[in-house]
Amino acid sequence: MSATQKIIQENVDYTLFSWSKQKGLNPIAVKHAQGVYLYDYDDKRYIDFSSGLMNVNIGHGNQRITQAVVNQMQEVAYVTPSCVTKIRGELGKKLAAICPGDLNKAFFTLCGATSIENAIKLARLYTGRHKILTRYQSYHGSSNGAMTASGDPRKLPVDAQQAPNFVHFDLPYLYRWEYGEENLLKESIASLERMIAYEGSANIAAIVLEGESGSSGCLKYPVGYLKSVREICNKHGILLIMDEVMSGFGRTGKWFGFQHHDIIPDMIAIAKGLTCGYLPFGCLMVSDKIAAKFDDTVLALGLTYSAHPVSCAAALETLKIYEDDHLIENAAAMGKYMDAQVELLKQKHPSIGDWRNTGLLGCLEIVKNKKTKEPMAPFNAKPNEMEVMNKVANKIKELGMYTFVRWNYIFVAPPLCVTKAQINEGLSIISEALKIADKEVN
Ligand SMILES: Cc1ncc(COP(=O)(O)O)c(C=O)c1O
Repeated sequence: MSATQKIIQENVDYTLFSWSKQKGLNPIAVKHAQGVYLYDYDDKRYIDFSSGLMNVNIGHGNQRITQAVVNQMQEVAYVTPSCVTKIRGELGKKLAAICPGDLNKAFFTLCGATSIENAIKLARLYTGRHKILTRYQSYHGSSNGAMTASGDPRKLPVDAQQAPNFVHFDLPYLYRWEYGEENLLKESIASLERMIAYEGSANIAAIVLEGESGSSGCLKYPVGYLKSVREICNKHGILLIMDEVMSGFGRTGKWFGFQHHDIIPDMIAIAKGLTCGYLPFGCLMVSDKIAAKFDDTVLALGLTYSAHPVSCAAALETLKIYEDDHLIENAAAMGKYMDAQVELLKQKHPSIGDWRNTGLLGCLEIVKNKKTKEPMAPFNAKPNEMEVMNKVANKIKELGMYTFVRWNYIFVAPPLCVTKAQINEGLSIISEALKIADKEVN
């Protein structure tokens, strides 16, 4: 057994893997990573076209983070959340400067799910209402409340454990909507308003939506949708919580996804790009108005590792890197380049049904037939329905790329430091792998 095989075997024998049946796994054993590349123990190079799990926005191996973390650890590694550190205050101030409007107060969490859990709790505490409305085609995390908030079918195997008082709504997407773009906006808003009436507006604490859709397939909001949702929330005293866990921190070419839609939410849930995976961390940004309620009322939220100094240090340095390296501007520019290159791919490959992208949060939808739009694998595909897409995914890996392939979606979300040459390199791998799918087109 080679050294690499031994590493993989030990992992498979002694650890459990998320969202997979455990038999037959063959993960990449990553020895080191730099920029947009991962390297395994045999020195095979993989271009990382999904930035890990769409979180390593600044790219891999940035030693500025290592240094910031080491410095903080040497000073003080942990204080209770009731003590303070210099770094916590500095990070809070920086986040308040980055966030628009009066989103000036940070409650630090551990990850995306804990940001969402605390957003939901806080919305209920603030409004005194209990219901939370979310979109079916969304993912908000795998802890109990966040999982229930998600409409994503990953929650279905644990359906019996869903938390009460979450109500989901459908928001169709343009590619699979037959009645015209204008009509899509009208119907989506009208159905949301009907639902609010049915559920009782006075019972609804918050609407939670992703800033831009991510793992559900980058399903774009109809133009004007979020603005109308903001108005509906204002009308009924419902809070608007944007989940920017995936779409935040430059991923879409702006600091936050919702900034493409000219709105300001009441809270923002963030994680991933805040520390880019160098350490686990998250944060809930809260408006001054909401925070003020707790000036004289106990804020019933808490985590042992809230405002962890070492994670705060990693986050503050990460934010400086976005600015120093102009990564958000690069994401916007490379996103446009990506769109143009994918347009050429679309002409070459009959299996590409749709391409949806904002900045560098993109997804190819693979179909059996461009006219009928029959998907190459259906929504929530069972393993036996993934035959073709698995072959495509295996080819992608064999050719030296790591990316997220789900059902008939191939995600394209490289680190924001990606260059045109690296985009070409990645797309040529996808193009080669798509020849497999093209053969299945009827
Ligand atoms: C939009 C969104 N929200 C929340 C989460 C959950 O984040 P975490 O896995 O850090 O709990 C994710 C994870 O992919 C996400 O994409």
